[in-house]
Amino acid sequence: MYKLLFTQVIARFMDAETAHHSTMRGLRTIQAVPGAARLLRRLLAPRDPALTVHALGLEFPGPLGLAAGFDKDAVAYEALGAFGFGHVEIGTVTGQAQPGNPKPRSWRLMPDRAVINRMGFNNEGSAAAAARLRRRRPGMVVGVNIGKTKVVPEAEAAADYVTSTERLAPFADYLVVNVSSPNTPGLRDLQAVEHLRPLLTAVREAADRVTARRVPLLVKIAPDLADADVDAVADLALELGLDGIIATNTTIGREGLASDPDLTKETGGLSGAPLKERSLEVLRRLRSRAGDRLVLISVGGIETADDVWERLRAGATLVQGYTGLIYGGPFWPRTIHRDLSRRLRGSAYRTLGDLAPGPDASP
Ligand code: FNR
Repeated sequence: MYKLLFTQVIARFMDAETAHHSTMRGLRTIQAVPGAARLLRRLLAPRDPALTVHALGLEFPGPLGLAAGFDKDAVAYEALGAFGFGHVEIGTVTGQAQPGNPKPRSWRLMPDRAVINRMGFNNEGSAAAAARLRRRRPGMVVGVNIGKTKVVPEAEAAADYVTSTERLAPFADYLVVNVSSPNTPGLRDLQAVEHLRPLLTAVREAADRVTARRVPLLVKIAPDLADADVDAVADLALELGLDGIIATNTTIGREGLASDPDLTKETGGLSGAPLKERSLEVLRRLRSRAGDRLVLISVGGIETADDVWERLRAGATLVQGYTGLIYGGPFWPRTIHRDLSRRLRGSAYRTLGDLAPGPDASP
């Protein structure tokens, strides 16, 4: 039903960003109606105890969460959670409010089940997000993803991340340092270990200054890193006692696309199905490098419960999706969790935790 509506109406008559704004309006309406989000949650939230994941000192009712970028300003995470995501990551939030890049800045690549975006961290800034998260009700896992304000020079990046950390860490179930968006000039250079070490150290110290709770800290990396650089980030994460890595953000690569070259030539990050292979590869690399010492959240091209299964078998602790929701529709997270439950019941495994790769790992 959604597929028909999406291909015949939404994709034809609404550009990607307009569709997103309509969706956000709908979600905010759901949140404004007393009891509506609670009712949805009762209908759609994962309820199979075998899907529960314990990680980062938190309990996730299912492994699939909503990736950063959808709810940048923390305005609709409760409704999004009610549609069946096991967690929602808000952001990317920057130190200062900023408008992002000029429009248009987001395109659907329908034949590739993909999206290109160069939003450029359009958001209301960390003070506004903190004011909203301050009123958070307990009951769902909310991660907070932070990035650099565009006008802040790279040499002062750490101070900008620290500002956001001080405002947001007290309200975050976990915190993500995003150094991997292709749409803020120079941001991805922060992935180099010599820049990343002082940045992550400063964020860790800031988080510990503002809250007695030890907020789990993760870093989100790009799929375009060379393999040796992926290893270097894993080693650094272990050295600094980070809690985990989110892999991956969107790619600047454009290989093997079937969509109109007028679209694929747009500058920005590519997400969705074409990202699947590299995202899985980076996950495998990270898991073999880090053993069981890091939480790994795998994101990039996840569309089905089988994709989630494959990630968990490859060593993902949790998974996230964004483009899958655009193409799959509002019941996508519920369908994934339901199908995962079914697959688990028909398998030799009892819980998702049993899927983690061991010495005798078979698919
Ligand atoms: C994103 N993504 C993203 N990531 C991030 O860390 N901060 C952000 O602000 C955004 N913004 C954003 C906007 C849009 C329109 C898209 C499509 C994506 C990246 C996202 O979180 C995810 O890492 C990638 O999209 C790969 O996952 P999917 O989309 O293939 O499931």
